Amino acid sequence: MAHWNPSGKLAVVTGASSGIGRCLSKRLTAAGCRVIAVARRADRLQSLSEEIHCDGDNDLLLPIHGDVTDSATHDQIESLVRSRGGSLDLLVNNAGIGAIGSFEEATESRLRKIMEVNFFAPAQLTRRLLPYLKSSDDAVICNLGSVLGHRAVPDKSEYCASKFAMHGFSDALRAELAGTSVRVTLVSPSTTESEFFDVLVDSDANATSKSIGSWPADRVAAATLAAVGKRRSEVILSLGGKMLVYADRICPPLMNWLLRKEH
Ligand SMILES: NC(=O)c1ccc[n+]([C@@H]2O[C@H](COP(=O)([O-])OP(=O)(O)OC[C@H]3O[C@@H](n4cnc5c(N)ncnc54)[C@H](OP(=O)(O)O)[C@@H]3O)[C@@H](O)[C@H]2O)c1
Repeated sequence: MAHWNPSGKLAVVTGASSGIGRCLSKRLTAAGCRVIAVARRADRLQSLSEEIHCDGDNDLLLPIHGDVTDSATHDQIESLVRSRGGSLDLLVNNAGIGAIGSFEEATESRLRKIMEVNFFAPAQLTRRLLPYLKSSDDAVICNLGSVLGHRAVPDKSEYCASKFAMHGFSDALRAELAGTSVRVTLVSPSTTESEFFDVLVDSDANATSKSIGSWPADRVAAATLAAVGKRRSEVILSLGGKMLVYADRICPPLMNWLLRKEH
């Protein structure tokens, strides 16, 4: 089967105002894909729109500023998809937030915020947009997971749980949609240079995150688009990310020991 080609397609990208989602929106529009770009910060979407329009077609970026956890935002996305013909070729569930710190000392509110943005919102948006994805003869749901959705680490319990949920949801949905025109790609980046660590939820300002090398957001966006293009079910990005995930698959007790938090 030929590669999925963005040219002339319609996509929804959540979390398009910064990081991976912003880079992905630029790459998609540069390839001739019309992108419904969703995020809360209107000024950031405006600047993205200006950058893209400077480069050419002024109808390729269709910004929606809203919160992905708000059903009114889903209404707006659905009505824009309908107004563009009712057939959606790509949904990228990318908007996401994180936190760092002990589970015991954190609040219920931190857990709920992270699960709402990282899991309930994309799951609900997916259900809402499935009829439009099924109207396309070649559609992809691309979910941004994380290597921490394959192997959990201490001090990121809520985030790991939300990304494990995204991982399980993606696998189940892929199996449910087998035989339809809709495929599901789970992309699992490891540490990425973006604004992610500047906006951690209810976390200590000095909280730091361990990483074995990090990728620029645009490199993750390029790898995401390549995975969608090649119709991959799952990709794990970066050497450090692969080492973490595959070592855990081979020897979970060793990883449990290596990753334990010292007291
Ligand atoms: N950075 C990493 O190390 C890393 C590693 C693995 C996986 N990931 C995953 O990659 C995805 C993108 O992260 P990133 O690194 O590009 O981070 P980022 O630069 O912080 O971008 C996050 C995007 O999500 C949007 N967003 C957050 N909450 C939202 C809400 N309630 N409603 C609508 N939009 C919302 C933000 O826009 P507004 O603030 O304008 O709403 C922003 O555009 C996330 O799912 C993240 O979990 C990141």
